[in-house]
Amino acid sequence: MYERGHYLEQLRTLSLITQNPTLRLIIERIDAISQSDTSILLIGETGVGKELFAEYIHRTSNRADNPFVKIGLSSLPPDLLESELFGHDKGAFTSAVTEKKGLFEFADTGSIFLDDIDDFPFALQSKLLRVLESRELKRVGGLATIPIDVRLIAASKMDLKELVDRGLFRADLYYRINVVPFIIPPLRERKDDIPLLVHHFFRRFLPNKETRISDDALRVLVEYEWPGNVRELRNVVQRVSLFAKEVVKLQDLPPEFHLQSSTDFLIKACHQCFVQDKMTFDQVVECLETNLLQYALKETGGNKTQAAQRLKLSLSTLRDKLKKYNLNGTE
Ligand SMILES: Nc1ncnc2c1ncn2[C@@H]1O[C@H](COP(=O)(O)OP(=O)(O)OP(=O)(O)O)[C@@H](O)[C@H]1O
Ligand SMILES: [Mg+2]
Repeated sequence: MYERGHYLEQLRTLSLITQNPTLRLIIERIDAISQSDTSILLIGETGVGKELFAEYIHRTSNRADNPFVKIGLSSLPPDLLESELFGHDKGAFTSAVTEKKGLFEFADTGSIFLDDIDDFPFALQSKLLRVLESRELKRVGGLATIPIDVRLIAASKMDLKELVDRGLFRADLYYRINVVPFIIPPLRERKDDIPLLVHHFFRRFLPNKETRISDDALRVLVEYEWPGNVRELRNVVQRVSLFAKEVVKLQDLPPEFHLQSSTDFLIKACHQCFVQDKMTFDQVVECLETNLLQYALKETGGNKTQAAQRLKLSLSTLRDKLKKYNLNGTE
């Protein structure tokens, strides 16, 4: 029913940006099963794009024109969760003054995205399994059986099997959810996507400006570990965009990136000094000093006053040291 162009169009409108072979393969596999109702489990660290993938799965499925209901399980208080998911009848509990449809009913004929399924309370897991297996539900305090037709997409920060082994997740529910698992790798394992994403977010946050990024700034962004993954990258680019000129340079990046580059530099410099055999204490100190001075001059475009500030030295001490090591700079 759908052409390849349909998938590409969805990728474009969703702005799911990637050139990474692992992610491309995941997209291909999702496309291959797009017309079936199989449950899909997306596993990955925070910010890797699980929600974006869930949307892609829904939009390319034959349920695309029907509802897509997203539920962040960690943001719902556990005591409200049951009635939020499955609804309640009037009088089911004290505050249930009217009847209420649950999110599963809202998702009928469409897809339901259960985010943070690893946080799903153990006590409710058997009810969830029952609903998924029987394709019908009873509202809290209700007697009527309501048929429900939903495709399940779940997301987890960790391998659910671990939770099963620790007795925190029901094995039967795990098998029901884990039919087709996809592991979305963290950004630090697909560095080929970083330049692409950086340019994509600059275009998004500065649509009327042709922003370029200097090679050393981009290198630092590529080398960074990105614990918050694509979300963190997006936020950094957004922050930088506020003050961006035509070319974004290393010093325009937030301070933690300078810190990281100087730390890296120092580690390398120390290593260089120490691996040289039989160096005396004084020689190691001299080697480090030279490296530090050269680095500060490079960072400040050779400006001695700024280099001295950066190294927290007086200008005269810096001058003496530059002379000692035969290094040059401008005033
Ligand atoms: N490949 C990508 N291309 C473009 N934008 C992306 C990509 N992956 C993630 N993003 C963007 O990064 C942000 C975080 O993605 P998303 O919310 O999908 O992550 P998540 O895995 O669901 O995170 P969490 O576990 O914290 O809920 C969103 O703004 C999303 O649009
Ligand atoms: Mg999410």
